[in-house]
Amino acid sequence: MHGKFITIEGGEGVGKSTQIGRLKDFVAGQGVEVVVTREPGGTHRAERIRELLLETSDEPMPSTCELLLMFAARSTHLENVIQPALARGACVICDRFTDATYAYQGGGRNLSTENIATLERMVQGTLRPDLTLLLDAPLDISAARASARNTAAGTSDRFEQERRDFFERVRAAYLDRARQEPKRFAVIDATESLEAVTVAIQQAIAERLLKLSPAPRS
Ligand SMILES: Nc1ncnc2c1ncn2[C@@H]1O[C@H](COP(=O)(O)OP(=O)(O)OP(=O)(O)O)[C@@H](O)[C@H]1O
Ligand SMILES: [Mg+2]
Repeated sequence: MHGKFITIEGGEGVGKSTQIGRLKDFVAGQGVEVVVTREPGGTHRAERIRELLLETSDEPMPSTCELLLMFAARSTHLENVIQPALARGACVICDRFTDATYAYQGGGRNLSTENIATLERMVQGTLRPDLTLLLDAPLDISAARASARNTAAGTSDRFEQERRDFFERVRAAYLDRARQEPKRFAVIDATESLEAVTVAIQQAIAERLLKLSPAPRS
């Protein structure tokens, strides 16, 4: 688990934040430093960019502006948090990363995948997650979870106000990426109970990452 980069992906309300809380404890239990972070965000400047991305405003947000802001935030996040953490051997768990850009800006907004790939190379070089956990659920389930949570918290952002067909395209784009890179992705059925999803995530980690780096002998 040393120096591993794990990303957790999926649509709104599938359970990413909930599961990351549990995953953090599981990884820390292996005796590894864990850094939990999120995108867009993860640094002071990137969190400011996140606010720009999520705020509702009278000024329409061009899709290209949205795409560039995502990668601008990612650049400072990588440079200041993710790469230093990986270099010192920490396990980085990130709530959404570049697959979300392919899903939301590519699938959702229909921006060119080729342009996204160009920015990915520009900002990340060859850095890619070691493991991507895609929490997948039909829209009705994830939307109901997100809206129950938002009603309780009294919040809603610019993305959550998108239409149903947007989220259908996001989900399809995520699944498409998982099919293209089956070694990196583990698709987790997020319709299951909290407990069952936690177990499925731990199994994916045991199969894909732990066998590569056995725990140090005591
Ligand atoms: N497997 C599950 N079964 C039932 N409820 C769940 C499950 N996973 C999460 N929830 C509930 O659904 C709501 C949304 O979960 P959470 O905030 O973790 O989702 P998220 O993927 O982080 O959403 P967002 O994309 O909006 O950040 C929460 O109220 C959470 O308690
Ligand atoms: Mg969340």
